Amino acid sequence: MSLTVAEAGRTLADPTAYADDRRLHDAMTLLRRESPVHWVEDAPGYNPFWAITKHADVLEIERDHARFLNAPRPLLGTAEFDQMNRERAEQGIALRTLIHMDDPDHRVIRAIGADWFRPKAMRALEPRIKELAKRYVDRLAELGGECDFVQQAAVHYPLYVILSLLGLPESDFDRMLKLTQELFGGDDSDMRRGATAEEQLAVLMDFFAYFQELTQARRANPTDDLASAIANARIDGEPLNDFDTASYYVIVATAGHDTTSSTISGGLHALLENPGELDRLRRQPELMPYAVDEMIRWVTPVKEFMRTATQDYDLRGVTIRKGESMLLSYPSANRDEEVFDDPFRFDVGRDPNKHLAFGFGVHYCLGAALARIEVRAFFEELLPRLESIELNGTPESTATTFVGGLKRLPVRYSLK
Ligand code: HEM
Repeated sequence: MSLTVAEAGRTLADPTAYADDRRLHDAMTLLRRESPVHWVEDAPGYNPFWAITKHADVLEIERDHARFLNAPRPLLGTAEFDQMNRERAEQGIALRTLIHMDDPDHRVIRAIGADWFRPKAMRALEPRIKELAKRYVDRLAELGGECDFVQQAAVHYPLYVILSLLGLPESDFDRMLKLTQELFGGDDSDMRRGATAEEQLAVLMDFFAYFQELTQARRANPTDDLASAIANARIDGEPLNDFDTASYYVIVATAGHDTTSSTISGGLHALLENPGELDRLRRQPELMPYAVDEMIRWVTPVKEFMRTATQDYDLRGVTIRKGESMLLSYPSANRDEEVFDDPFRFDVGRDPNKHLAFGFGVHYCLGAALARIEVRAFFEELLPRLESIELNGTPESTATTFVGGLKRLPVRYSLK
């Protein structure tokens, strides 16, 4: 039975679809072709939204950040979640990370971290990141030739990188990993602490409590880590309030690792499914920067962000009304046949590769340079040491409409 456009639209709001590549991309391909600006009004449990599936349209909307705002609905949550956020915003206690903000606040708050994350500063961190990559490949070797690559390797490495940049003690890393998975794996029964908005809020509050302590410690004794930069930042001579400080930690600690670990696992999976591309990359290591971006395009770990229109707007002859929200579908934009040659082919030498996995414009991913270095350092360490590697079971993906990728990748391997 063939899929209707209405069903395809609802698929974008179904977390389980994101654990089934075929189902997801069948729906997205149909939408790009038949209804690229598509009103989804009957996705069970969700408020209506426009599904934006074409690369050019995602760009057009992201570019116009004065007309299309992140507030009040920066990402797709259930109607219950939207309602809770509205109430908390009215009470002045809603989460306010960079992705919840618009100018002028966004520009000022982003500047606090922007210096830290600029490509030049990231390159200075490269030796430390390479050391961590080596530590994780050594760990793979110690595991003796069989493991679940996701749970035993990929999830830990980016977490280590970002938490050591923040300046957290190693003894707290496991706790952060668990909290992040509870927050981002929110729709997945394997990961979540609880499905309700209240239970998700409890996870957030745990984050906040932890980081409030850290802020106090860094204000008392500043160091040169990122946590000190955040804790001691001043805007118009005033420190950030507790809520904005904690929100900054939350965005960096969470955005910084599930995304990158999903890319590494999904990138390895793509190489296993395309042994010709794995061979090619081993023979031509100079392709690595292209391969990294192809892995990022292929996996597209951030599935969506949203924007809300401040005035009526015509897009492809369709009128988006003031106050309506648009879901920017990054996985769909990154398979757009009008932009990518043979988009469903994994090509480690793809050039050009104008993917939108990091978004675009003023909210463009702050950690993009870091993410690229991390993925590259990992594969530059792994590939020369591989004698063989193969799948050793069925991979499984996270059911989520937000950030995710593989949650299990059983592999068998032999390392030098
Ligand atoms: C924002 C993707 C890694 C920190 C974003 C956005 C996307 C994204 C799509 C929203 C962009 C937009 O609205 O236009 C990714 C992907 C990653 C990754 C695919 C890995 C492959 C990281 C890392 C960090 C990070 C490693 C930090 C350590 C952030 C922050 C924002 C952001 C702070 C908010 C920026 C803003 O709103 O101004 N990322 N990200 N990300 N990302 Fe990343």
